Formats: sequence, C-alpha cells, structure tokens
Amino acid sequence: SRLWLIVPAAGVGRRMAAECPKQYLPLAGSTVLAQTLARLHAAFPAATLCLCLARDDIYFDAAMVPFADWRRIGGGAERAESVAAALTAIAAEAAADDTVLVHDAARPCVSVDDLARLQAALADEPDGALLAVPVADTMKRAAADGRVARTEPREALWHALTPQGACYRLLCDALAAARACGVALTDEASALEAMGRAPRLVAGRRDNLKITHPDDLALAEQILAAQAA
Ligand code: CTP
Ligand code: MG
Repeated sequence: SRLWLIVPAAGVGRRMAAECPKQYLPLAGSTVLAQTLARLHAAFPAATLCLCLARDDIYFDAAMVPFADWRRIGGGAERAESVAAALTAIAAEAAADDTVLVHDAARPCVSVDDLARLQAALADEPDGALLAVPVADTMKRAAADGRVARTEPREALWHALTPQGACYRLLCDALAAARACGVALTDEASALEAMGRAPRLVAGRRDNLKITHPDDLALAEQILAAQAA
C-alpha cells in the first residue's frame, strides 16, 4: 500500500517572531523546511508528499522539495485544519489502508532511523502510533495561583513528537470526530484518543526538536552537526 507524508508548514511562527515564518529561516546551509523534507526523503524516497502551505506564502520555492511525487495543499488557520485539508485533498486517491504520517515542518532533526522504526510500528498497529520520549524532569501541576498543586508521577509521562500516523481511514475518521466534538487538537494522537483509540508510543531520539523559540535555531544547527559527525 501507499505511504503518504503530510507536512504542515502553514504556520506563521508567532513564538519565533522572526521576519519570516520559522520554516523558512536559514539552517545548515539551506532552510528549516528544506532540511525537514530532506530527512523525510532520505527515509521514504518513494512516498507522496502533501505539503501544507499558507495561501499567501511568498517564501516557498519548489526547489526545496526533493520528492518526485508531491502536491501543494492550502493550509488552514490551525495546524489540525492544515492536516485535515491535506486528507481531504487526497480522498480520491488514498486507499483506506494506506499509511499516513504527519510530520511538522519545524522538526528538521528527526532521524532516518526513528522514521523507519515508526513506519515499522504502524504496520501492525490498529490504533496509530507516534514518536515520543519519556519526560526527564520532575513534573508539577500548577494551581491557578501559580503555586504547585501537586507533583505528577513522571514514570508514565512522555513528550509527544512527530511524525504521528495511522492508516488513512482511521486518521480521517479521528480528525472528523474530533472536529465534530470541538476537541482542541495540537496533534493527531489526540484525535485518535478522543475516539477511544490508544496510539502506540514509539520511543524516539530526544534530539527531535521542534523549532519554536529563537534559541532553538542554534540548537538545531548543533544537533544536525552532531548527527552528521
Ligand atoms: N502549522 C500549519 N498550519 C497552521 C499552524 C501551524 O501547517 N495553521 C504547522 C507549522 O508550520 C509547523 C507545525 O504546524 O510546522 C507545528 O506548529 P507550530 O510549531 O505551532 O508552528 P507555528 O504555528 O508556525 O508557530 P507558533 O505557534 O509559534 O505561531
Ligand atoms: Mg502554532
């Protein structure tokens, strides 16, 4: 069956507060988006890419895309809407059991090995799967007054990374159900959970950083250099 990669890249990078959306900032000789796409292509050269871009994007250049088979999708106001737009756009072509992986454009440090392990985990996984890492810090729940309400047991807590994925039909149903229920989504796993599924946590590398704040660019630069060494 076919592998689809959905890369939401339609955000404005409010927290980065740069002169352009963060996916177009320079990184390791190209741009954040180009680095992300290069990693995905190294792992899945035959996949079909759905690249979600803002409709008024003036920074995108098709030379950033290494995939032979790809299409541009008009993104939505929220990440989940950008992903939903891609799922809708491929409805006529995608088979129910095709695998769909969603990966943030802002995560250029994802390793090829983690990508391959996630894909393998999805092969016999009815509830979807995501890359994740166990939390290292002690976790505090805050009360409204800014004081500690309690310490959360951290043994069972993970950071959710991307990619996240499931088969096409399941992902569509989950996003549609979450939208109907008004569940606020920051990832695909939340949508699957909201419909009673239990996506598998696939332990990934801790250096799969999501570039979010200005400091993260230099960090990503170091991570990529260290990975190449
Ligand atoms: N994204 C998207 N469509 C949106 C919002 C976000 O495709 N309407 C994408 C971003 O481009 C990014 C990924 O989703 O690759 C993860 O989102 P995030 O890190 O929050 O990026 P931004 O929304 O751009 O940043 P911020 O929240 O700081 O504005
Ligand atoms: Mg955002």
